[in-house]
Amino acid sequence: MGEKKILCIGLVCLDIISVVDKYPEEDTDTRCLSQRWQRGGNASNSCTVLAQLGAPCAFMGSLAAGHVGNFIIDDFQRRGVEVSHMVWQDHGDTPCSCCTVNILNGSRTITLYDTNLPDVTAQDFENVDLSQYKWIHWEGRNADEQVKMIQRVEEYNKTLPMDQKIIISVEIEKTREHLYQLFGYGDIVFVSKDLAQHFGFDSAPEALKGLHNRVKNGACLICAWAEKGADAMGPDGVVIHSDAFPPDVIVDTLGAGDTFNASVIFALSTGKTIKEALTFGCQIAGRKCGVHGFDGIL
Ligand code: ADP
Ligand code: FRU
Repeated sequence: MGEKKILCIGLVCLDIISVVDKYPEEDTDTRCLSQRWQRGGNASNSCTVLAQLGAPCAFMGSLAAGHVGNFIIDDFQRRGVEVSHMVWQDHGDTPCSCCTVNILNGSRTITLYDTNLPDVTAQDFENVDLSQYKWIHWEGRNADEQVKMIQRVEEYNKTLPMDQKIIISVEIEKTREHLYQLFGYGDIVFVSKDLAQHFGFDSAPEALKGLHNRVKNGACLICAWAEKGADAMGPDGVVIHSDAFPPDVIVDTLGAGDTFNASVIFALSTGKTIKEALTFGCQIAGRKCGVHGFDGIL
């Protein structure tokens, strides 16, 4: 068997990106500097980065047949991301985001429509041959189903020696109550700045201290905080920090968090320490902010 892979499960969507030199006023009609279609979605973007880092990886998520689905599949394949676990739904639309990227500060303003395509289920996940994977990452979405998927992996892990167990990571990004159950599941739990602020925390270290009691024993909680870099807290309760590595000019922060997650996962999966992984995550995410899209981040 070849090298074991990293599987990311979550959203794939079409991002229609308009790059502007000034954020538009409501109800105005303006020209943008450029426009492009890009494959998006957190788990999907993380696969783009993992593939660039040289990690064999696969994506699992839902698509609807049609032009957009084809565009997305072509892009995954072009970038060497495996798509054999894609679930083609027979009703619903492929999710789509309209994204405005402000070239002056790299800000990204996103409007996503993703509510009429079913997500992958625990039943779909039964078809995944776990022996191919060393790491499985879940972007929190349909958490009830995702918990069942994770439990399947936990059962499988019980049959394996320590060094062959599949590492489980989860990302809790959105402020939706049903996602919070995922805190209790990952070996690595990524929590977003948005969610931390929603809980009333003003910094990553504060968020880690306040949320650490929600993760399982032995887990590591990680919180990225844009230009402040990122922090992590492992089982010993010590807060570890990396500064951000801002590029000379920030042009596009769309997917910076997904880049960070992928880079941290990659580093940890190759035996790096949490400190090294945080630093690497911030370095690669910083480079991403200096380029449009995901080409040229290495
Ligand atoms: P997202 O909003 O895409 O989830 P985050 O704000 O969580 O992204 O940032 C993820 C990582 O990207 C940060 O830890 C940092 O390393 C990098 N990053 C994001 N924004 C900036 C920025 N303005 N300057 C430098 N680095 C940044
Ligand atoms: C970036 C991103 C975009 C997508 C949106 C969905 O992190 O995944 O590609 O449109 O977030 O929330």
